[in-house]
Amino acid sequence: MINKFDFDEGKIPSIEPDRQYFFIEEVKKKIKNIESDIGHPLTYCVTTFGCQMNARDSEKLEGILKEVGFVKESEEAADFVIFNTCTVRENANDKLYGRLGRLKSSKKTNPHKMIALCGCMMQEPSVIEKIKQSYHYVDLIFGTHNIYKFAELLYYSLISDRVVIDILKDTDKIVENLPVERKYPFKSGVNIMFGCNNFCSYCIVPYVRGRERSREPEAIIKEIKSLVADGVTEIMLLGQNVNSYGKNLDNPITFAKLLEEVEKVEGLKRIRFMTSHPKDLSDELIEVMSKSKKICKQLHLPVQSGSDNILKKMNRHYSKESYLELVSKLRKKVPDIEFTTDIIVGFPGETEEDFLETLDLIKKVRYISVFTFIYSKRTGTPAATMENQVDEDIIKDRFNRLLKEVSQIGNEETCKYQGKTYEALVEGISEHDPSLASGRLSNNVLVHFKGNSELIGQYVNVSLDECKGFYFMGSLV
Ligand code: SAH
Ligand code: SF4
Ligand code: F3S
Repeated sequence: MINKFDFDEGKIPSIEPDRQYFFIEEVKKKIKNIESDIGHPLTYCVTTFGCQMNARDSEKLEGILKEVGFVKESEEAADFVIFNTCTVRENANDKLYGRLGRLKSSKKTNPHKMIALCGCMMQEPSVIEKIKQSYHYVDLIFGTHNIYKFAELLYYSLISDRVVIDILKDTDKIVENLPVERKYPFKSGVNIMFGCNNFCSYCIVPYVRGRERSREPEAIIKEIKSLVADGVTEIMLLGQNVNSYGKNLDNPITFAKLLEEVEKVEGLKRIRFMTSHPKDLSDELIEVMSKSKKICKQLHLPVQSGSDNILKKMNRHYSKESYLELVSKLRKKVPDIEFTTDIIVGFPGETEEDFLETLDLIKKVRYISVFTFIYSKRTGTPAATMENQVDEDIIKDRFNRLLKEVSQIGNEETCKYQGKTYEALVEGISEHDPSLASGRLSNNVLVHFKGNSELIGQYVNVSLDECKGFYFMGSLV
């Protein structure tokens, strides 16, 4: 039951983000009351599963939590635990249930313990049913479309003694100017679009993230300028298919044009973006990349498979040949560019021949790094009901052969830089050795070198002394 509001309902603003700022103030009062009862600040922990989109969403949740007075804590100790979930593969779902089970006992020992679930998995009705039945200690559930309403939902949850569930099926709403708490002071993701219209036949993302919607370019540039004013020098423009950015805006604009505008932001040093769908990567974009001084020398270009037959069944709209042409065009125009990709092994109907086409493509492109996935059946997608699902043993064998090939090529591609000096953005101190700082080159390769935390966020020149496979040991020059 939701108890009565502490205020006259007519006072709630109807427009966003004003409505959320109103609720932020109301939640603040509630939190203060609880804190004065228990004598210490309430704490939170947001755990993120999945991709950069989810990571960015979590920063938005943290922005609200800090604003209303919560203090960050570990998952075990926090009063309020939020799991921002992913459902792209089945094992992502399994992970969540395991973590959730472990929280049950802490709910008994801490009367103020609250648990919230959000993100892509919550957009699946079967998941909501399962949670309602088996995990009744969850307090708040919301989806990907109403994450901007978090302050309001948090308020409802605080005045309710039952689980609050708020899931929208889809939305065309984009709410700007809410608080964000960044993980890194010097780099940040920036959403340029939400959702996906591509419906690759294996993929659940369009169903859980809804239709493609682009942010207005002015709002994006304004956000980047304010990030830069706040110390950010590297940004990652985020979207499921950035190459189709802007097509559906009232005043359409291309992704390439947006990049040109972003390039002009003074003080910004590095621009990255993901993900680029090969079918929509334009010559205009290649041109802009070739002239840019800020776009990093790394492109994530997910290929998924090297077999035309499989690519067709995947609904990817390109062929092995056209993909290879695209790569060679990019290499010609953007010297020193490195490619990374995603590959799925064991898509329904994949034969040994199809798999060999994938290996062949990898040898031709020579990726510096590859994210490899075993095909996971997602209920509701066209591929889930396709015939000839591949045998598990065959998939495992192919997966191992794939890993061997990509790691050997990746190491060779990385090690070719040995002995050279490059500019690195120092991102932190090495987890394994506190006397080492870690930095990233424009091509995303990692280098460790003697250094201290004062260097974090700075650009330094590093000599790449010794190649360790996918990273370097280096020294400051
Ligand atoms: N929008 C991006 C990818 C988003 S999902 C793009 O189009 O490239 C990230 C990666 O997860 C995909 O590139 C794909 O390789 C993988 N993936 C998606 N659905 C999958 C599934 N059902 N099984 C295995 N891997 C999958
Ligand atoms: Fe999924 Fe394809 Fe959309 Fe990427 S482009 S999110 S793989 S449907
Ligand atoms: Fe996962 Fe959702 Fe990203 S399903 S990969 S968190 S868009």
